[in-house]
Amino acid sequence: MSGAVARAKQQDHAIIAEGVYKAFGKVKALDGIDLAVPRGSVLGVLGPNGAGKTTAVKILTTLLSPDAGRVVVDGRDVLKDPAGVRSRIGLAGQSAAIVEEFSGRENLELIGRLFHMSAKGSRDRATELLESFGLTDAKDRRAKTYSGGMMRRLDLAASLVNKPNVLFLDEPTTGLDPRARSDMWGVIRELVAAQTTVLLTTQYLEEADELADNIVVFNHGRVIAQGTADDLKDTIGGDVVEFTVTDPRKLTSAVRAVTGCGDGDPEVDKDKGEITVRAGRNGSGVLLDVVRQLDAKRIKVMGLGVRRPSLDDVFLALTGHRAEEDGSLNAETSKEASGE
Ligand SMILES: Nc1ncnc2c1ncn2[C@@H]1O[C@H](COP(=O)(O)OP(=O)(O)OP(=O)(O)O)[C@@H](O)[C@H]1O
Ligand SMILES: [Mg+2]
Repeated sequence: MSGAVARAKQQDHAIIAEGVYKAFGKVKALDGIDLAVPRGSVLGVLGPNGAGKTTAVKILTTLLSPDAGRVVVDGRDVLKDPAGVRSRIGLAGQSAAIVEEFSGRENLELIGRLFHMSAKGSRDRATELLESFGLTDAKDRRAKTYSGGMMRRLDLAASLVNKPNVLFLDEPTTGLDPRARSDMWGVIRELVAAQTTVLLTTQYLEEADELADNIVVFNHGRVIAQGTADDLKDTIGGDVVEFTVTDPRKLTSAVRAVTGCGDGDPEVDKDKGEITVRAGRNGSGVLLDVVRQLDAKRIKVMGLGVRRPSLDDVFLALTGHRAEEDGSLNAETSKEASGE
């Protein structure tokens, strides 16, 4: 890449990673990762247990050095200027970085002081964050008395003390109940509205679907797919319109009636009397058309509807298993690495 192109890319992107490798013994945790996250956007990193998500977050946040590759965060190289990177980022890791014996307020003030803020500056910032995370009433209680959801909020508040331009969230809502999860999504959306760039890892595909502008899917230390949630859904075929013809003798005329409604020829399951029409991203448009054509020929059907593939379907197609399934394979590889 020429100097000018590289500089332009650096201006437009808050995170750039090129050819990043990291091995632990025999385990290739990252096997050549490239990322480019536009400023002010949210990148969702999906992947099963052991795919390399946390390793990537640690490298991007200077907690771990890559074996090879280049990483630039907010214009600073993680190897050449780790302190510069650290002053511009926030990290809420997979294990909370909260001192449980301290109160919420003390935790936040301590972090302010670690960022060399004045005593008053730290106190004011803590007050502001406690307020915006709904922790004002609990501010003087020891953190160990907080609920899981409060702890997560405090941890996220802690990652924001230095007003970071780039925020890294490693599974921010794992273990939260649905209410607490959607509260957390609200907080993340507000940060993004205020131009913070966010990289979040998650096992919840719904979370990536809700929050992420772009998604990368990791598996065995590699990026195996990337794009918007819609792009990824399209890779496995997009929307389908499905229905069952009530009278089997009408099956052929039904197929004829709906040919041309969607993409390509309809698929037919003769035994079940089921017809499937591929619809790309235009599920509801194709559905209407199918209804009109069948109605014109007076063909009766059951179970007519549109199905949009979920990210779960995408994940299954890409990795061969569902996101929630335990990565038992990976547990074995990590044992090998630690020589057990
Ligand atoms: N310090 C370490 N020593 C040895 N192996 C490690 C170390 N850290 C990570 N690994 C291995 O590297 C691989 C990637 O781990 P990583 O924690 O990045 O995965 P992950 O995608 O974050 O998984 P999870 O969804 O379970 O959090 C795994 O096989 C893991 O066992
Ligand atoms: Mg992890």
